[in-house]
Amino acid sequence: MSTTELAKGIYWVGAVDWDQRDFHGYSTYRGTTYNAFLIIDEKVTLFDTVKSSHTDEMLVNIGKIIDPKKIDYIVVNHVEMDHSGALPAMMDLVKPEKLICSPMGQKAIIDHFHREDWPFEVVKSGSQICLGKRTIQFLETRMLHWPDSMFSFIKEDGILFSSDAFGQHYASSERFDDQVDMSAVMHESAKYYANILYLYSPLIKKLLATVSSMNLDIKMIAPDHGVIWRTHLNKIIEAYDHWSRNESGKKVLVIYDSMWHSTEKMAQAVEAGLRETGVSTKLINLKVHHRSDVMTEVLSAKALVLGSSTLNNGLLPRMAGFLMYMRGLKPTNKFGAAFGSYGWSGEAVGLMKTALEDMRIDVIEEALRVKYVPNDEKLEECVEMGRRVGKRVIESLAGQE
Ligand code: FEO
Repeated sequence: MSTTELAKGIYWVGAVDWDQRDFHGYSTYRGTTYNAFLIIDEKVTLFDTVKSSHTDEMLVNIGKIIDPKKIDYIVVNHVEMDHSGALPAMMDLVKPEKLICSPMGQKAIIDHFHREDWPFEVVKSGSQICLGKRTIQFLETRMLHWPDSMFSFIKEDGILFSSDAFGQHYASSERFDDQVDMSAVMHESAKYYANILYLYSPLIKKLLATVSSMNLDIKMIAPDHGVIWRTHLNKIIEAYDHWSRNESGKKVLVIYDSMWHSTEKMAQAVEAGLRETGVSTKLINLKVHHRSDVMTEVLSAKALVLGSSTLNNGLLPRMAGFLMYMRGLKPTNKFGAAFGSYGWSGEAVGLMKTALEDMRIDVIEEALRVKYVPNDEKLEECVEMGRRVGKRVIESLAGQE
């Protein structure tokens, strides 16, 4: 039976979830994997487990290499249940000598599973544990993306078990980055960053600097989801560096929802004006695009122009939901503007403007509203708005050069 060996004696023993399509509101069209890793040494060690529904799959994979009962240590790099769901079953079966986790990990494990009697060994940044021929060096990565999160680095092999960081929701039979479609993996990496890590960008920036200052000889990055980086490490590290700096290209999104096509016509006119200025544009209809795909576009956009009709004195529900979602992810360093049609009260545009301001997005335009259906004159005002926003984006980026 085949197994995946990362290095001599170090194996992938996780599970592939081909059917997973939703991660609490994040669409995962390509499924995902729950990566767990096994080291065969004097102390046999398992790094993370899998979602509880995939426990048997992990046990089969471990069983190809060793009797699971021979595991001595279980390391929990992250307590979220897609990685710890199988932990209670493993603790019962394996009865490990040590359950290794960060200080916050211990608290989270107890709060999840209510087992203070488990044999906790709490490690902090800089702690090391010898497995025999190999040494694990730990690095706490608090709030990346949970308080308990940590990295485990296998010094002798240069393998970094990076928990959720550098991961992608990407199900495949292949385990390594050089075996799959890199453009798809990079897209899924960006989507993962935009929808899970975006709000922690300042911490990621610091973490990258910390890891760099540690001069670790990293030969492989093995995240808890998706493929293992062994060839394109620089590509994903540079991407994280870029994303964490909130740097944007000359890209503008027109994101809208419409009732009877009036706001849609306005959106098209705004986009036409933007295009004239040479910026790259995307016209995003929230009826069609999932919020998590829109966030992936937001990651690399310099300006967001939002459109919604007014419904019941408020926003259309898709726009309201999108704004709530985006607000939590805290995009920064962007321009914003708002437009929309209305019948008699017209609150939607003001609500979008306020939402943008609350997110500290720099609103650079007066709100543009149209009663019922836009005429040619009003559509020209939309084109003008697009031209002004595009010009401002071009100028701002020129200023950075
Ligand atoms: Fe993949 Fe934060 O769990």
